[in-house]
Amino acid sequence: MSVAPIDYLLSRRSSKFVQAPGPTDEQLSLILQAAMSAPDHGRLQPWRFSLIRGEAIERLADLALSATKAAGLPLTPQKEASTRSWLAKVPLLIAVACRMDHANTKIPEHERLLATGAAVTNMLNAIHMLGYAAFWSTGLGTYVDEVNEALGFDGLDYRFMGYVAVGTPTDAPLPLARPDYRQFVTEWTGG
Ligand SMILES: Cc1cc2nc3c(=O)[nH]c(=O)nc-3n(C[C@H](O)[C@H](O)[C@H](O)COP(=O)(O)O)c2cc1C
Repeated sequence: MSVAPIDYLLSRRSSKFVQAPGPTDEQLSLILQAAMSAPDHGRLQPWRFSLIRGEAIERLADLALSATKAAGLPLTPQKEASTRSWLAKVPLLIAVACRMDHANTKIPEHERLLATGAAVTNMLNAIHMLGYAAFWSTGLGTYVDEVNEALGFDGLDYRFMGYVAVGTPTDAPLPLARPDYRQFVTEWTGG
């Protein structure tokens, strides 16, 4: 039985714990191409992605954990161990950054960040539609300059926005009751 596209949007769930297999190269192309359909004021195309796979994931763990400690941020041995064991299984991380393009003063900064967030949402939905799962995380030294720079996203020109872990969920995600949209919607009638 085929699933209606709208049902994919209604059923998406994040899964932090993912393992191989991750998307094939062809599927990854579709996922990244889906990001290009995000709304984007001024067509600035501010989104930037860096793929981190295989042994590079362990190298990122080394970098992020040591830079976090060097920056004086709290990191317990338990947190370090759980981060390493999480990442040991993740087949693909997509690092996300927003290019700030300071020469353009017309489009406010927050709109560029929103466009990049929308691009990530498109990827999360594409990942789900292709039968994989993902988790957007702003751990792993997201807010540590040394990590941003090492990934090629220096703080002058980019805002680093974290990582999307992609793969096959280690456990079937349970359906999550979502709130009733009526709690968040009003109608303005101009009166
Ligand atoms: C920008 C952004 C950053 C996030 N960073 C984290 C994070 O560092 N740790 C975490 O537990 N969840 C984080 N989340 C939340 C998860 O990605 C996920 O959305 C949440 O667990 C709810 O699951 P759901 O997407 O199935 O509703 C982040 C979400 C967003 C949008």
